[in-house]
Formats: sequence, C-alpha cells, structure tokens
Amino acid sequence: MSELGDGTRCVHAGLPEPAPGQPFLPGPVFAAPYHLDPWQGPAGAANGYGRPDNPTRRLLEAAVGELEGGDCRVFASGQAAITGLLLTVLRPGDTVLLPADGYFPVRAFATDTLEPMGVRVVFVPTVGPYPTLEGVRLVLVETPANPGLDVVDVAALADLAHAAGALLAVDNTTATPLGQRPLDLGADLVVASGTKALTGHSDLLLGYVASRSAELIEAVTLWRNATGAVPGAFDAWLAHRSLATMDLRLGRQSANAEAIAALLAGRADVTGLRWPGRPEDPAYPVASTQMRRMPGVLSFDLGDADRVARFIDAARLVVAATSFGGLHTTVDRRAQWGDDTSAGFVRLSCGVEDTADLVADIAAALDAAGPIN
Ligand SMILES: Cc1ncc(COP(=O)(O)O)c(C=O)c1O
Repeated sequence: MSELGDGTRCVHAGLPEPAPGQPFLPGPVFAAPYHLDPWQGPAGAANGYGRPDNPTRRLLEAAVGELEGGDCRVFASGQAAITGLLLTVLRPGDTVLLPADGYFPVRAFATDTLEPMGVRVVFVPTVGPYPTLEGVRLVLVETPANPGLDVVDVAALADLAHAAGALLAVDNTTATPLGQRPLDLGADLVVASGTKALTGHSDLLLGYVASRSAELIEAVTLWRNATGAVPGAFDAWLAHRSLATMDLRLGRQSANAEAIAALLAGRADVTGLRWPGRPEDPAYPVASTQMRRMPGVLSFDLGDADRVARFIDAARLVVAATSFGGLHTTVDRRAQWGDDTSAGFVRLSCGVEDTADLVADIAAALDAAGPIN
C-alpha cells in the first residue's frame, strides 16, 4: 500500500481482510499454550505456544513492517529490541560503532555487557567524524539522536558501511516510520522504541526490529524466542490500535514543535535550541532531505535545574515526565537521570494540544521562571 498517503496507510496497516461479523482489529488473544492437533502437534496450526506464537502480535508486526517497508519483530520494549539486536549480531572479537550522544542506557549496556564479552565498542558522535569502518561488524546510529537531536546522512553512511562489509542499523524512535524510512535509505536494520510517538499514548512499552534480510530477521526471531522478550497480547493490541492515529498525532506534534521552536528562538533566556526542522538548525540540511516529516521533540537549555523546575511549575499545559512522543506535552530535564547533559538541558516533547494554547502557556511559564541566573 506504499502508494497511499500516510494517514491511509496508518489506518489500514496490518488489518485482516474485512469479514462480515468480525471486528476491524481483532481483540487481543490471551494464550500461553494453544490447543494442539493430537496427531500433527505444533505442525498442525500457526499457534503452539505464546512465546513464539501470538496472532495479535503478528498483526502488529505486519502493520509496523508495512510502515517501515520490511519484516518486523516486536519486543517487550525498545531496550529489549536494541540489546536483542546487538547480542544477535555481535560476537566476541567484533567491533561495533555506537552513538556517543544517543540514548544513554544503550551506551551503558555496551560498556557493562558488550565490552566484558569481548566486543570492541567505539563511540562516535552522530554527526561524526566517522572512523574507517574496515573491520567493523555493525554501525548503530540514532537519527535524530536522543536527546541532542543531531542527524546523520543515512544513505551516505550505508554506502560507507557496505563498502567495508559492515551492517548499518538505524534507531528510528524519534523519527518514526512516517518521519523516515531507513530501509529505503539503505540501512540493513531498523530498531526502535515503539513506546514513544509510534504508539503515542504513554500507556505501554514496545520495541521492534525491522529488516529486508530474511537471514537477519530469522536470527532476531531465534533470539527473541530464546530470551522471551515479547510484548504481552494486550500491549500489542493497544499498540496496533494506536497506530491508526499516528499520522494525525505526528501532524499536530510537528506543527506544535515548529511554533514552539519559533517562540524559543526569539527568547534571550533560552539557549542551545535544537529542532531539526528549523532552517537555522545545523541538522536541517540533512534532515530536510532525508526525513519525510519533522519530529515533535525539541531540546534547549534553561540555565539550571531550579529554573527548569520554576518553568514547569508555572506552566499549566506542560508537565514533568520522561519519555516522549505522547499526546501530552512533557518536559524532561535529562541530567536528573544521569544523562551527560548540562543541568539546565531539557527535552520538550510536544503533545497534540492546540498550538496557540501551548505557545501562550510556554511563553508565560518562561516569563514566570525569571531570568537565567
Ligand atoms: C532513541 C531511543 N531508543 C531506545 C529507547 C528505549 O526504549 P524503551 O524505553 O521502550 O525501552 C529510547 C527510550 O527513551 C530511546 O529514546
């Protein structure tokens, strides 16, 4: 259905053929074991046991796979998907390149688990410079990177990786498959947290890996079956139900981000503004060619932790919370989680509230927060 518009694709993604008397999206199937054919055993039906087999999960995988343009396997969380991918692909003696400015638990996993296993880990800033990729097994990038929102040219990096015999994986969490399609840009793998804008309601954890390589998908599936890092049926169903509105949600979130970026850019009491959709942003030249739409996430600095707290306290429509991509506008001061950002650095995730309301609220809250110390 790739010739159809984003809204249409989201509404129809992964749904079974219409059948009279059946719901549009079948409800969650809750099962650990299923009835087996007494003679054929597991060969007699698609479902034998819930860890490898669940029809609700398969429908969600069909949907996300359609949107990413590959085959998909969903995981219990983004972290389960990323660590599963790393452990599926990497062996002792391999080298992996990871973003120096990406989601910090991935960096911690690399240092705490991959390095002691004998994997060589090289951290590279999202914007580079990238070292020679000779001898590298896997390059994982986040673009836009969380939380700094730098961007890398995926097609160019895919060429470099493939010339050196390396695999390229792209964390598509912030962009979502509507924001960019890394597999079309030449990446071998997409990995993402579906907890964020993909599902967008702040009510579930989800991750996925997508690829056009049957071999890689097979290896990831074996890993997932062996470790059991699967989402439950209800979460898978909620995620699929939420996908239908992704185009609408992202449209409003992105419009809100554009308006808030314009507001913040004009304020002397806000520094370090980053939003890849702003023509003045260093990420804009690559983002505007490679991305299909801009994310609803911005980052900036309010000077110190107290001023961030005063800002959030004064706002009526902006709440303190981690994560991003949900319906509600949230602000997260990243340093409070141990992220290596400055004390006043915040990531602001735009919800779907009315743009004018948000802009007025944020302007008033900044005024109330007072000047930078
Ligand atoms: C870019 C990125 N990748 C992966 C993850 C991990 O996802 P999850 O929280 O669903 O495990 C996150 C979470 O914030 C993220 O921002």
